[in-house]
Amino acid sequence: MLPQRPSFLPMSSSPRDAATPVVSAFYDRFPYPGDPLQDGPPPGYNWRWCVDSAMAAALGVLSAAPPSGTRTWRILDAGCGTGVSTDYLCHLNPGSTVLAVDISAGTLEVARERTRRSGAAQQVQELRIEQRSLLDLEQEDAFDYINSVGVLHHLREPEQGLRALARQLRPGGVLHLFLYADGGRWEIHRSQRALSLLEVGTGGEGLSLGRQLLRELPEANRLRRHHEQRWALDTAADANFADMYLHPQETSYDLDRLLRFVEQADLRFAGFSNPQVWDPARLLQGELLERARALPQRQQWALVEALDPDISHFEFFLSKGDVEPLEWTDAALLAHSGQRNRCLWGWPSTSLMGPDLEPLTIAAAQLELLQAFEAAPAGTPLGKLSLAMAIDERLLLARQLIAERLLLPVRP
Ligand SMILES: C[S@@+](CC[C@H](N)C(=O)[O-])C[C@H]1O[C@@H](n2cnc3c(N)ncnc32)[C@H](O)[C@@H]1O
Repeated sequence: MLPQRPSFLPMSSSPRDAATPVVSAFYDRFPYPGDPLQDGPPPGYNWRWCVDSAMAAALGVLSAAPPSGTRTWRILDAGCGTGVSTDYLCHLNPGSTVLAVDISAGTLEVARERTRRSGAAQQVQELRIEQRSLLDLEQEDAFDYINSVGVLHHLREPEQGLRALARQLRPGGVLHLFLYADGGRWEIHRSQRALSLLEVGTGGEGLSLGRQLLRELPEANRLRRHHEQRWALDTAADANFADMYLHPQETSYDLDRLLRFVEQADLRFAGFSNPQVWDPARLLQGELLERARALPQRQQWALVEALDPDISHFEFFLSKGDVEPLEWTDAALLAHSGQRNRCLWGWPSTSLMGPDLEPLTIAAAQLELLQAFEAAPAGTPLGKLSLAMAIDERLLLARQLIAERLLLPVRP
Protein backbone atom coordinates (compact mmCIF):
# COMPACT_ATOMS: atom_id res chain seq x y z
CA MET A 1 0.00 0.00 0.00
CA LEU A 2 1.47 3.36 -0.97
CA PRO A 3 1.43 6.17 1.58
CA GLN A 4 -1.37 8.67 0.99
CA ARG A 5 0.08 11.95 -0.24
CA PRO A 6 -1.58 15.29 0.28
CA SER A 7 -3.19 16.62 -2.89
CA PHE A 8 -0.62 19.42 -2.97
CA LEU A 9 2.95 19.37 -1.69
CA PRO A 10 4.87 22.66 -1.71
CA MET A 11 6.49 22.65 -5.15
CA SER A 12 9.88 23.50 -3.65
CA SER A 13 10.10 20.12 -1.91
CA SER A 14 9.28 18.13 -5.07
CA PRO A 15 11.40 17.33 -8.13
CA ARG A 16 10.96 20.04 -10.71
CA ASP A 17 12.33 21.50 -13.88
CA ALA A 18 14.44 24.69 -13.79
CA ALA A 19 11.78 26.49 -15.86
CA THR A 20 8.89 25.60 -13.53
CA PRO A 21 8.74 28.92 -11.58
CA VAL A 22 8.66 31.09 -14.69
CA VAL A 23 6.37 28.75 -16.66
CA SER A 24 3.84 28.29 -13.86
CA ALA A 25 3.72 32.07 -13.29
CA PHE A 26 3.19 32.59 -17.03
CA TYR A 27 0.23 30.18 -17.13
CA ASP A 28 -1.20 31.69 -13.92
CA ARG A 29 -1.42 34.91 -15.94
CA PHE A 30 -2.62 33.22 -19.12
CA PRO A 31 -4.43 29.94 -18.34
CA TYR A 32 -4.31 27.87 -21.52
CA PRO A 33 -6.24 26.93 -23.57
CA GLY A 34 -8.70 29.82 -23.43
CA ASP A 35 -11.67 27.66 -24.56
CA PRO A 36 -14.94 28.82 -22.99
CA LEU A 37 -16.47 26.81 -20.13
CA GLN A 38 -19.83 25.21 -20.68
CA ASP A 39 -22.41 23.16 -18.89
CA GLY A 40 -22.60 19.56 -20.03
CA PRO A 41 -20.24 17.31 -21.99
CA PRO A 42 -17.60 18.82 -24.28
CA PRO A 43 -18.56 19.27 -27.94
CA GLY A 44 -18.10 16.33 -30.34
CA TYR A 45 -15.24 13.95 -29.60
CA ASN A 46 -11.56 13.56 -30.25
CA TRP A 47 -10.53 9.94 -30.85
CA ARG A 48 -7.02 10.63 -29.52
CA TRP A 49 -8.61 10.95 -26.10
CA CYS A 50 -10.83 7.89 -26.47
CA VAL A 51 -8.30 5.43 -25.10
CA ASP A 52 -9.65 2.34 -26.93
CA SER A 53 -9.28 4.11 -30.27
CA ALA A 54 -5.88 5.58 -29.45
CA MET A 55 -4.51 2.24 -28.20
CA ALA A 56 -5.77 0.45 -31.31
CA ALA A 57 -4.24 3.11 -33.57
CA ALA A 58 -0.88 2.92 -31.80
CA LEU A 59 -0.62 -0.82 -31.20
CA GLY A 60 -2.72 -2.18 -34.07
CA VAL A 61 -4.80 -4.32 -31.72
CA LEU A 62 -6.41 -4.08 -28.29
CA SER A 63 -5.64 -6.53 -25.51
CA ALA A 64 -8.27 -9.18 -24.69
CA ALA A 65 -11.60 -7.62 -23.75
CA PRO A 66 -12.73 -7.88 -20.12
CA PRO A 67 -15.74 -10.19 -19.59
CA SER A 68 -17.95 -7.12 -19.11
CA GLY A 69 -16.84 -5.89 -22.51
CA THR A 70 -16.31 -2.46 -20.93
CA ARG A 71 -12.74 -1.29 -20.71
CA THR A 72 -11.60 1.00 -17.94
CA TRP A 73 -8.21 2.60 -17.98
CA ARG A 74 -5.75 4.36 -15.69
CA ILE A 75 -5.20 7.66 -17.44
CA LEU A 76 -2.76 10.50 -16.76
CA ASP A 77 -3.20 13.95 -18.28
CA ALA A 78 0.28 15.41 -17.74
CA GLY A 79 0.19 19.22 -18.01
CA CYS A 80 -3.60 19.35 -18.30
CA GLY A 81 -3.83 23.16 -18.61
CA THR A 82 -7.41 24.41 -18.27
CA GLY A 83 -8.71 20.86 -18.54
CA VAL A 84 -10.07 20.63 -22.09
CA SER A 85 -8.32 17.30 -22.66
CA THR A 86 -9.13 16.10 -19.12
CA ASP A 87 -12.79 16.78 -19.77
CA TYR A 88 -12.74 14.68 -22.96
CA LEU A 89 -10.70 11.94 -21.29
CA CYS A 90 -13.40 11.60 -18.60
CA HIS A 91 -16.39 11.75 -20.93
CA LEU A 92 -14.91 9.44 -23.56
CA ASN A 93 -13.64 6.78 -21.11
CA PRO A 94 -16.47 6.15 -18.65
CA GLY A 95 -15.52 4.21 -15.53
CA SER A 96 -11.81 4.95 -15.86
CA THR A 97 -9.47 6.51 -13.29
CA VAL A 98 -8.08 9.89 -14.31
CA LEU A 99 -5.28 11.95 -12.77
CA ALA A 100 -4.70 15.42 -14.23
CA VAL A 101 -1.65 17.42 -13.10
CA ASP A 102 -0.29 20.83 -13.89
CA ILE A 103 2.18 23.19 -12.23
CA SER A 104 0.00 26.31 -12.59
CA ALA A 105 -2.53 26.95 -9.82
CA GLY A 106 -4.41 29.52 -11.93
CA THR A 107 -4.78 27.08 -14.78
CA LEU A 108 -6.00 24.31 -12.48
CA GLU A 109 -8.69 26.57 -11.07
CA VAL A 110 -10.18 26.79 -14.56
CA ALA A 111 -9.73 23.02 -15.09
CA ARG A 112 -11.64 22.31 -11.87
CA GLU A 113 -14.45 24.67 -12.84
CA ARG A 114 -14.61 23.25 -16.38
CA THR A 115 -14.85 19.64 -15.23
CA ARG A 116 -17.31 20.54 -12.44
CA ARG A 117 -19.66 22.22 -14.90
CA SER A 118 -19.38 19.44 -17.45
CA GLY A 119 -20.03 16.65 -14.93
CA ALA A 120 -16.73 14.95 -15.79
CA ALA A 121 -16.20 13.37 -12.35
CA GLN A 122 -19.57 11.60 -12.57
CA GLN A 123 -18.38 9.78 -15.69
CA VAL A 124 -15.36 8.15 -14.11
CA GLN A 125 -14.45 6.05 -11.11
CA GLU A 126 -12.07 8.72 -9.90
CA LEU A 127 -10.93 12.11 -11.12
CA ARG A 128 -8.08 13.87 -9.34
CA ILE A 129 -6.84 17.28 -10.47
CA GLU A 130 -3.62 18.16 -8.67
CA GLN A 131 -0.97 20.85 -8.68
CA ARG A 132 2.11 18.75 -9.30
CA SER A 133 4.92 18.55 -11.78
CA LEU A 134 4.93 15.64 -14.20
CA LEU A 135 8.40 14.98 -12.75
CA ASP A 136 6.79 14.27 -9.41
CA LEU A 137 4.59 11.25 -9.95
CA GLU A 138 6.73 8.41 -8.69
CA GLN A 139 4.27 7.51 -5.93
CA GLU A 140 1.55 6.80 -8.47
CA ASP A 141 0.76 3.35 -9.86
CA ALA A 142 1.60 2.96 -13.55
CA PHE A 143 -0.79 4.33 -16.16
CA ASP A 144 -2.22 2.64 -19.26
CA TYR A 145 -2.46 5.86 -21.18
CA ILE A 146 -0.64 9.15 -20.75
CA ASN A 147 -1.72 12.25 -22.63
CA SER A 148 0.75 15.14 -22.64
CA VAL A 149 -0.13 17.68 -25.26
CA GLY A 150 1.99 20.79 -25.70
CA VAL A 151 3.84 20.36 -22.40
CA LEU A 152 7.31 18.80 -22.63
CA HIS A 153 8.59 21.52 -24.97
CA HIS A 154 8.02 24.00 -22.12
CA LEU A 155 10.49 22.27 -19.80
CA ARG A 156 14.13 23.40 -19.64
CA GLU A 157 14.98 19.69 -19.88
CA PRO A 158 12.30 17.99 -21.97
CA GLU A 159 14.40 14.78 -22.02
CA GLN A 160 14.08 14.46 -18.27
CA GLY A 161 10.33 15.05 -18.59
CA LEU A 162 9.92 12.31 -21.18
CA ARG A 163 11.93 9.85 -19.09
CA ALA A 164 9.71 10.66 -16.10
CA LEU A 165 6.57 9.94 -18.15
CA ALA A 166 8.13 6.75 -19.52
CA ARG A 167 8.65 5.54 -15.95
CA GLN A 168 4.96 6.10 -15.20
CA LEU A 169 3.76 4.12 -18.21
CA ARG A 170 2.94 0.45 -17.74
CA PRO A 171 4.60 -2.00 -20.14
CA GLY A 172 2.30 -2.15 -23.17
CA GLY A 173 0.95 1.30 -22.35
CA VAL A 174 0.72 4.24 -24.75
CA LEU A 175 1.81 7.84 -24.47
CA HIS A 176 0.30 10.55 -26.66
CA LEU A 177 2.50 13.60 -27.19
CA PHE A 178 2.28 16.87 -29.06
CA LEU A 179 5.47 18.85 -29.61
CA TYR A 180 6.32 21.90 -31.69
CA ALA A 181 7.91 21.43 -35.12
CA ASP A 182 10.50 23.96 -36.31
CA GLY A 183 9.41 24.11 -39.94
CA GLY A 184 5.96 25.68 -39.60
CA ARG A 185 6.99 27.94 -36.74
CA TRP A 186 9.59 29.93 -38.66
CA GLU A 187 7.48 33.09 -38.66
CA ILE A 188 6.39 32.59 -35.05
CA HIS A 189 10.01 32.28 -33.95
CA ARG A 190 10.83 35.54 -35.76
CA SER A 191 7.95 37.36 -34.12
CA GLN A 192 8.93 35.96 -30.71
CA ARG A 193 12.49 37.15 -31.24
CA ALA A 194 11.34 40.61 -32.30
CA LEU A 195 9.12 40.93 -29.23
CA SER A 196 11.94 39.79 -27.01
CA LEU A 197 14.33 42.36 -28.56
CA LEU A 198 11.66 45.00 -27.97
CA GLU A 199 11.55 43.86 -24.33
CA VAL A 200 7.77 43.79 -24.22
CA GLY A 201 7.78 41.18 -21.44
CA THR A 202 5.54 38.16 -20.93
CA GLY A 203 2.54 39.86 -19.32
CA GLY A 204 -0.25 42.26 -20.25
CA GLU A 205 2.05 44.77 -21.92
CA GLY A 206 3.58 42.04 -24.09
CA LEU A 207 0.11 40.98 -25.10
CA SER A 208 -1.04 44.42 -26.26
CA LEU A 209 2.30 45.28 -27.92
CA GLY A 210 2.45 41.85 -29.55
CA ARG A 211 -0.99 42.31 -31.04
CA GLN A 212 -0.03 45.82 -32.12
CA LEU A 213 3.11 44.54 -33.85
CA LEU A 214 1.26 41.98 -35.94
CA ARG A 215 -1.45 44.52 -36.76
CA GLU A 216 0.91 47.32 -37.75
CA LEU A 217 3.71 45.65 -39.68
CA PRO A 218 3.41 46.52 -43.39
CA GLU A 219 0.52 44.65 -44.98
CA ALA A 220 2.79 42.59 -47.21
CA ASN A 221 5.16 41.68 -44.41
CA ARG A 222 5.56 37.91 -44.22
CA LEU A 223 5.18 37.69 -40.44
CA ARG A 224 1.98 39.72 -40.49
CA ARG A 225 0.55 37.82 -43.46
CA HIS A 226 1.38 34.48 -41.94
CA HIS A 227 -0.23 35.48 -38.67
CA GLU A 228 -3.39 36.73 -40.35
CA GLN A 229 -3.80 33.77 -42.68
CA ARG A 230 -2.73 30.97 -40.38
CA TRP A 231 -3.03 31.92 -36.73
CA ALA A 232 -5.40 34.86 -36.25
CA LEU A 233 -8.38 32.63 -35.41
CA ASP A 234 -6.41 30.29 -33.14
CA THR A 235 -5.00 33.22 -31.19
CA ALA A 236 -8.25 35.18 -30.81
CA ALA A 237 -8.23 34.36 -27.08
CA ASP A 238 -5.53 36.35 -25.26
CA ALA A 239 -4.19 33.24 -23.52
CA ASN A 240 -3.66 31.56 -26.89
CA PHE A 241 -1.90 34.63 -28.32
CA ALA A 242 0.40 34.80 -25.29
CA ASP A 243 1.10 31.07 -25.51
CA MET A 244 2.19 31.47 -29.12
CA TYR A 245 4.20 34.69 -29.07
CA LEU A 246 5.27 35.49 -25.51
CA HIS A 247 6.29 32.16 -24.04
CA PRO A 248 9.30 32.36 -21.71
CA GLN A 249 10.42 28.75 -22.34
CA GLU A 250 9.99 26.67 -25.46
CA THR A 251 11.85 24.22 -27.65
CA SER A 252 10.89 22.89 -31.05
CA TYR A 253 12.00 19.90 -33.05
CA ASP A 254 12.75 18.62 -36.50
CA LEU A 255 12.05 15.00 -37.34
CA ASP A 256 15.58 13.72 -36.63
CA ARG A 257 15.77 15.47 -33.31
CA LEU A 258 12.30 14.24 -32.42
CA LEU A 259 13.17 10.60 -33.05
CA ARG A 260 16.41 10.93 -31.06
CA PHE A 261 14.37 12.50 -28.24
CA VAL A 262 12.09 9.45 -28.19
CA GLU A 263 14.96 6.97 -28.29
CA GLN A 264 16.75 8.51 -25.29
CA ALA A 265 13.71 7.61 -23.16
CA ASP A 266 13.74 4.03 -24.41
CA LEU A 267 10.25 4.35 -25.90
CA ARG A 268 9.08 3.18 -29.32
CA PHE A 269 7.59 5.49 -31.89
CA ALA A 270 4.09 4.06 -32.53
CA GLY A 271 2.87 6.34 -35.30
CA PHE A 272 1.61 9.87 -35.84
CA SER A 273 -1.86 10.60 -34.50
CA ASN A 274 -2.47 12.68 -37.63
CA PRO A 275 -1.13 10.09 -40.13
CA GLN A 276 -2.79 11.75 -43.13
CA VAL A 277 -0.35 14.68 -42.75
CA TRP A 278 2.59 12.30 -43.14
CA ASP A 279 1.27 10.49 -46.20
CA PRO A 280 3.26 11.53 -49.30
CA ALA A 281 0.05 11.07 -51.35
CA ARG A 282 -1.11 14.34 -49.82
CA LEU A 283 1.62 16.11 -51.81
CA LEU A 284 2.76 13.90 -54.69
CA GLN A 285 1.30 11.88 -57.50
CA GLY A 286 2.30 9.62 -60.40
CA GLU A 287 5.93 8.62 -60.66
CA LEU A 288 7.04 10.92 -57.85
CA LEU A 289 4.56 9.27 -55.51
CA GLU A 290 5.71 5.82 -56.59
CA ARG A 291 9.31 6.76 -55.83
CA ALA A 292 8.25 8.16 -52.47
CA ARG A 293 6.33 5.00 -51.59
CA ALA A 294 9.43 2.90 -52.34
CA LEU A 295 11.38 4.68 -49.59
CA PRO A 296 11.66 3.33 -46.04
CA GLN A 297 9.02 4.81 -43.72
CA ARG A 298 11.36 7.23 -42.00
CA GLN A 299 12.55 8.62 -45.34
CA GLN A 300 8.95 9.12 -46.43
CA TRP A 301 8.36 11.24 -43.33
CA ALA A 302 11.57 13.17 -44.00
CA LEU A 303 10.33 13.81 -47.52
CA VAL A 304 6.98 15.14 -46.27
CA GLU A 305 8.80 17.32 -43.73
CA ALA A 306 10.96 18.74 -46.55
CA LEU A 307 8.00 19.34 -48.85
CA ASP A 308 5.60 20.88 -46.36
CA PRO A 309 7.08 23.83 -44.49
CA ASP A 310 3.70 24.49 -42.84
CA ILE A 311 3.93 21.55 -40.44
CA SER A 312 4.02 23.33 -37.10
CA HIS A 313 3.70 20.41 -34.70
CA PHE A 314 4.26 16.71 -34.29
CA GLU A 315 1.49 14.67 -32.66
CA PHE A 316 2.25 11.02 -32.11
CA PHE A 317 2.02 7.90 -30.00
CA LEU A 318 4.85 6.21 -28.13
CA SER A 319 4.71 2.78 -26.61
CA LYS A 320 6.61 1.06 -23.88
CA GLY A 321 7.71 -2.19 -25.44
CA ASP A 322 7.96 -3.13 -29.08
CA VAL A 323 5.01 -2.81 -31.41
CA GLU A 324 4.87 -5.88 -33.61
CA PRO A 325 3.37 -4.94 -36.98
CA LEU A 326 0.43 -7.32 -37.26
CA GLU A 327 -0.16 -9.19 -40.45
CA TRP A 328 -3.85 -9.58 -40.98
CA THR A 329 -3.74 -13.00 -42.59
CA ASP A 330 -7.16 -14.63 -42.96
CA ALA A 331 -6.42 -16.99 -40.08
CA ALA A 332 -5.28 -14.15 -37.78
CA LEU A 333 -8.30 -12.05 -38.58
CA LEU A 334 -10.77 -14.88 -38.03
CA ALA A 335 -9.18 -15.64 -34.65
CA HIS A 336 -9.44 -12.03 -33.44
CA SER A 337 -12.45 -10.39 -31.94
CA GLY A 338 -13.52 -6.81 -32.60
CA GLN A 339 -14.96 -3.78 -30.92
CA ARG A 340 -16.85 -0.94 -32.51
CA ASN A 341 -15.04 2.37 -32.34
CA ARG A 342 -16.96 4.43 -29.78
CA CYS A 343 -15.89 7.69 -31.43
CA LEU A 344 -18.72 7.78 -33.94
CA TRP A 345 -21.83 9.86 -34.24
CA GLY A 346 -25.10 8.48 -35.50
CA TRP A 347 -24.59 4.89 -34.34
CA PRO A 348 -26.30 2.53 -35.19
CA SER A 349 -26.86 3.60 -38.77
CA THR A 350 -25.28 3.35 -42.19
CA SER A 351 -24.84 7.16 -42.14
CA LEU A 352 -22.26 8.09 -39.56
CA MET A 353 -19.75 10.70 -38.58
CA GLY A 354 -16.41 8.88 -38.42
CA PRO A 355 -13.58 9.13 -35.88
CA ASP A 356 -12.40 12.45 -37.36
CA LEU A 357 -15.99 13.75 -37.44
CA GLU A 358 -16.09 13.15 -41.19
CA PRO A 359 -19.38 12.05 -42.84
CA LEU A 360 -19.31 8.34 -43.68
CA THR A 361 -21.70 5.96 -45.36
CA ILE A 362 -21.21 2.27 -44.65
CA ALA A 363 -22.84 -0.73 -46.31
CA ALA A 364 -25.72 -2.52 -44.59
CA ALA A 365 -23.52 -5.63 -44.32
CA GLN A 366 -20.78 -3.63 -42.56
CA LEU A 367 -23.33 -2.34 -40.08
CA GLU A 368 -24.54 -5.91 -39.55
CA LEU A 369 -21.01 -7.11 -38.78
CA LEU A 370 -20.35 -4.31 -36.28
CA GLN A 371 -23.70 -5.01 -34.59
CA ALA A 372 -22.91 -8.73 -34.42
CA PHE A 373 -19.68 -7.94 -32.51
CA GLU A 374 -21.63 -5.69 -30.14
CA ALA A 375 -24.25 -8.34 -29.45
CA ALA A 376 -21.78 -11.24 -28.98
CA PRO A 377 -20.10 -12.09 -25.64
CA ALA A 378 -16.80 -10.18 -25.22
CA GLY A 379 -13.94 -11.87 -27.01
CA THR A 380 -16.00 -13.72 -29.64
CA PRO A 381 -13.72 -14.15 -32.66
CA LEU A 382 -14.78 -13.04 -36.13
CA GLY A 383 -14.87 -16.65 -37.28
CA LYS A 384 -17.33 -17.62 -34.53
CA LEU A 385 -19.78 -14.73 -34.78
CA SER A 386 -23.31 -15.92 -35.22
CA LEU A 387 -23.98 -14.28 -38.53
CA ALA A 388 -25.48 -15.52 -41.77
CA MET A 389 -22.45 -14.36 -43.74
CA ALA A 390 -19.85 -16.38 -45.64
CA ILE A 391 -16.30 -16.38 -44.25
CA ASP A 392 -14.90 -14.58 -47.30
CA GLU A 393 -17.41 -11.77 -46.92
CA ARG A 394 -16.69 -11.43 -43.18
CA LEU A 395 -12.98 -11.13 -43.94
CA LEU A 396 -13.52 -8.52 -46.64
CA LEU A 397 -15.85 -6.41 -44.50
CA ALA A 398 -13.66 -6.69 -41.41
CA ARG A 399 -10.62 -5.50 -43.40
CA GLN A 400 -12.57 -2.53 -44.73
CA LEU A 401 -13.90 -1.61 -41.28
CA ILE A 402 -10.45 -1.87 -39.69
CA ALA A 403 -8.98 0.36 -42.43
CA GLU A 404 -11.72 2.91 -41.77
CA ARG A 405 -11.06 2.64 -38.01
CA LEU A 406 -14.68 1.74 -37.34
CA LEU A 407 -13.71 -1.71 -36.05
CA LEU A 408 -10.91 -2.06 -33.49
CA PRO A 409 -9.32 -5.53 -33.53
CA VAL A 410 -9.19 -7.26 -30.14
CA ARG A 411 -6.82 -10.08 -29.13
CA PRO A 412 -8.51 -13.41 -28.52
C1 LIG B 1 0.46 24.84 -23.71
S1 LIG B 1 -0.24 24.36 -22.21
C2 LIG B 1 -1.06 22.85 -22.70
C3 LIG B 1 -2.27 22.54 -21.86
C4 LIG B 1 -3.02 21.27 -22.28
N1 LIG B 1 -2.17 20.11 -22.30
C5 LIG B 1 -3.67 21.46 -23.62
O1 LIG B 1 -3.05 21.15 -24.64
O2 LIG B 1 -4.82 21.91 -23.68
C6 LIG B 1 1.15 23.72 -21.31
C7 LIG B 1 0.78 23.33 -19.86
O3 LIG B 1 1.86 22.54 -19.33
C8 LIG B 1 2.01 22.88 -17.97
N2 LIG B 1 3.35 22.46 -17.54
C9 LIG B 1 4.55 22.97 -17.93
N3 LIG B 1 5.55 22.31 -17.31
C10 LIG B 1 4.96 21.35 -16.55
C11 LIG B 1 5.46 20.35 -15.66
N4 LIG B 1 6.75 20.21 -15.42
N5 LIG B 1 4.57 19.53 -15.05
C12 LIG B 1 3.23 19.66 -15.26
N6 LIG B 1 2.71 20.61 -16.06
C13 LIG B 1 3.56 21.44 -16.70
C14 LIG B 1 1.80 24.38 -17.97
O4 LIG B 1 1.52 24.90 -16.70
C15 LIG B 1 0.64 24.54 -18.95
O5 LIG B 1 -0.61 24.53 -18.32
